[in-house]
Amino acid sequence: MKSGTRKKISGWLALLFFHSVLLWNISDAQITYTIPEELNEGSVVGNVAKDLGLSVAEISDRKLRIASEAGKQYFAVDLGKGELVVSERIDRENLCGQSASCVIPLEVIIETPLQMYRVEIEIQDINDNSPDFPKKENVLKIGEHVASGARFPLESAEDPDAGSNALHTYLLNVNDFFVLNIKSHEDNIKVPELILKKALDRETQPIHHLTLTAVDGGKPARSGTTEIIVQVLDINDNAPQFEQPLYKIALSENTVTGTLAVEVKAKDLDEGPNGEILYSFGDHTPEIVQKLFEVKPHTGEIVVKDMIDYEQSKAYKFDVRARDNGNPQMEEHCRVHVEITDINDNAPEIVLTSLPSPMLENASIGTVVALISAKDLDSGDNGKVNLQIPPGSPFKLKPSFSNHYDLITDALLDREMFPEYNIDILAIDSGSPPLSTKTSVKVNILDVNDNPPLFSQSSYVEYITENEAPGKILCSVSASDPDLGDNAKISYSILDSKVQDVSISSYIYINSDNGSIYSMHSLDYEKLKVFQIQVQARDHGSPPLSSNVTVHVFILDQNDNVPAVIYPSADMGSVPHQKMPRSAKAGHLVTKVTAVDADSGHNAWISYKLVEATDASLFSVNLYTGEVRTRRAVSEQDDSSQRLLIEMKDNGEPVQSTTVEVPILLEDGVHEAILDFSQKSRDSDNKSSKMTFYLIIALASVSALSFLTVVLLAVRCIRHSRGSSCCCIRRGEAGDGYKNPNRNLQLQLNTDGPIKYIEVLGGDMMSQSQSFRSCFSPMSEISDFTFVKPSSTTDFQEIINVLDASLPDNSWSFESQQVSTC
Ligand SMILES: *[C@@H]1O[C@H](CO)[C@@H](O)[C@H](O)[C@H]1NC(C)=O
Ligand SMILES: *[C@@H]1O[C@H](CO)[C@@H](O)[C@H](O)[C@H]1NC(C)=O
Repeated sequence: MKSGTRKKISGWLALLFFHSVLLWNISDAQITYTIPEELNEGSVVGNVAKDLGLSVAEISDRKLRIASEAGKQYFAVDLGKGELVVSERIDRENLCGQSASCVIPLEVIIETPLQMYRVEIEIQDINDNSPDFPKKENVLKIGEHVASGARFPLESAEDPDAGSNALHTYLLNVNDFFVLNIKSHEDNIKVPELILKKALDRETQPIHHLTLTAVDGGKPARSGTTEIIVQVLDINDNAPQFEQPLYKIALSENTVTGTLAVEVKAKDLDEGPNGEILYSFGDHTPEIVQKLFEVKPHTGEIVVKDMIDYEQSKAYKFDVRARDNGNPQMEEHCRVHVEITDINDNAPEIVLTSLPSPMLENASIGTVVALISAKDLDSGDNGKVNLQIPPGSPFKLKPSFSNHYDLITDALLDREMFPEYNIDILAIDSGSPPLSTKTSVKVNILDVNDNPPLFSQSSYVEYITENEAPGKILCSVSASDPDLGDNAKISYSILDSKVQDVSISSYIYINSDNGSIYSMHSLDYEKLKVFQIQVQARDHGSPPLSSNVTVHVFILDQNDNVPAVIYPSADMGSVPHQKMPRSAKAGHLVTKVTAVDADSGHNAWISYKLVEATDASLFSVNLYTGEVRTRRAVSEQDDSSQRLLIEMKDNGEPVQSTTVEVPILLEDGVHEAILDFSQKSRDSDNKSSKMTFYLIIALASVSALSFLTVVLLAVRCIRHSRGSSCCCIRRGEAGDGYKNPNRNLQLQLNTDGPIKYIEVLGGDMMSQSQSFRSCFSPMSEISDFTFVKPSSTTDFQEIINVLDASLPDNSWSFESQQVSTC
């Protein structure tokens, strides 16, 4: 650098030297040096001494010095060499400003003799200043859409250098929008200005950076720059722009209020108020939308404001407007589609399309009871309804079409078991979780006459003593009917039958309302011992139903008959003489008195007693058989005509008795009486075949009766076996009961005359009430079984068994049976 400077200076010096010589030659009085400004201190301007013609010695001798007109000393003299040197930095711009020439006058004074020389030093400009802008940065505000061609003056730059070193021109960086124009004023001052080449758009480029360069004319040229910042001023030339033209969202119903449904967003390229967007519903937005949603004006958030019901509307479509705050305002719309998704918030509904009609209990399976439909406001699975009936009900639902069902019977109905049904119908939808509804349908069952009256017993057994006053209640039967109303109203009647060829209705009468049966006659055991009444209970249904029951009436004997003498009979008012030989020994059977008693059992149990006799020592009467036998052999002294008065007494209560007077004639002849007796036996042979027949019939009827009794008792036994013990008859043993010593079973048959009775005796002989009878008084104990046996041995054994089986054992008593029946 140092050598560089020195070279420069030496160049300058050579030039100056040539000039000085030249100048010196032209003007002898004045020396002019020309130097560039900004020389370093010590730089030699010129050799003043030499130029003034002074020797080196004279310089100091004559005291050469310089004086400046201006106060400041820019130069000094080197006294050794006589050179004028720069003593201080010289700034031409500072000294002379912009003026074209800049001269510093100097006075060179030498003494002895005092001489003064004028030296002028012309300071030449060097391009040491760059053009300079007062501000490094200028802000220019230009509204967008200003028409092209508009001019914007700029600040000029300054360059203190003069002449060609002064400001020469301006340059602008290349850009699309501006060009530079330089205006020249008269005083050669150049002023730059911007011309708008094409309209600005703030939205594409809000700021333009320009660089303005000022260039001077120096060589090399120097330059200065300034930044021009063009701020484009906004005008509201942009409408807000939605990010999407359509916002599609799905929202489930019942969304909590305050939930953000969607956020619409618009952008406005403008700035400031021109870009401030306020959101709102578009015009003509339905009121329901405004009720349900709210648009937040500043954010564009659409918020749920009220309960949304899918069932009210499945979708909402509306416009949202974005409007800026410019002047004039600009706006834009977007469309919002809100699809509402269903949630299962509606319980199904059961609709009775037709009210259930009362059902006849005999309705066939599949009869329609009611029409039912189901509804659910929800959609899809949430609205799919399934109707159910709890199992076990005799009804079912038959789907007809879509959600319609027929409620039909699924089983046979029985009003007597269930007079009405409350059918619970459950409707469940298929939502998750499912919702359900329950409805109870009441179905009344109407009665049909499907039950016949039912008697309280399968049969009735009634005992009545004979000779009761007519009009007495025999017994009461009762039946019940589980049906309803007239179907359950019962009338009793007696079915006609014959009792001993007479219609039974002449014997008894029934109260048709309550089943009480009355006798219309006093009954005679001797005529009628047992009869059956068929009672019918009939309801008032249509058609009526009825059932029958049999009442077995047993008539109980009373001792109302006096024993009647059969033999010897007093045909002609008096008994014929009984003849016996005088030769008879003791024990001779004279005759046999036989009496019968129409009563039965003990009432017919006849005993014979000799009351009076002509000679009581001669005859005796067997108490049981009535056989009259001689007590001793007849003697010669005995009267041939004897008279016996025999009393026959039954065993009833009260005792009935009669007497017979038997005349006896003692004869000397032969065995007439025996012949007579055997004759009678032969006669009776004839009758015996008849009797066999009767006997069989009698036995058969007895066995039938006994069998019936057994059945009745067995039925009663089964029926009462739970709890009741009043009549359950138990037998100690089975099979050969007739051999049971405890039971005095007798079957006695009368061989004399037509059979009237069979008597079966049970238990204690003395207990009349325990006898079960169809019996007659015995006449001959011996002949009884021998007579029967040959006719049918095996059958008889069977009959005995049946009879025996029908008999209760000792503990059985008639009273208890009477209480328990009827
Ligand atoms: C039936 O009615 C008659 C007459 O009203 C009455 O005497 C009788 O006791 C009744 N029978 C029953 C079992 O109630
Ligand atoms: C009842 O008896 C009558 C007469 O014997 C008969 O016609 C009717 O069928 C019987 N009814 C019933 C239910 O047995």
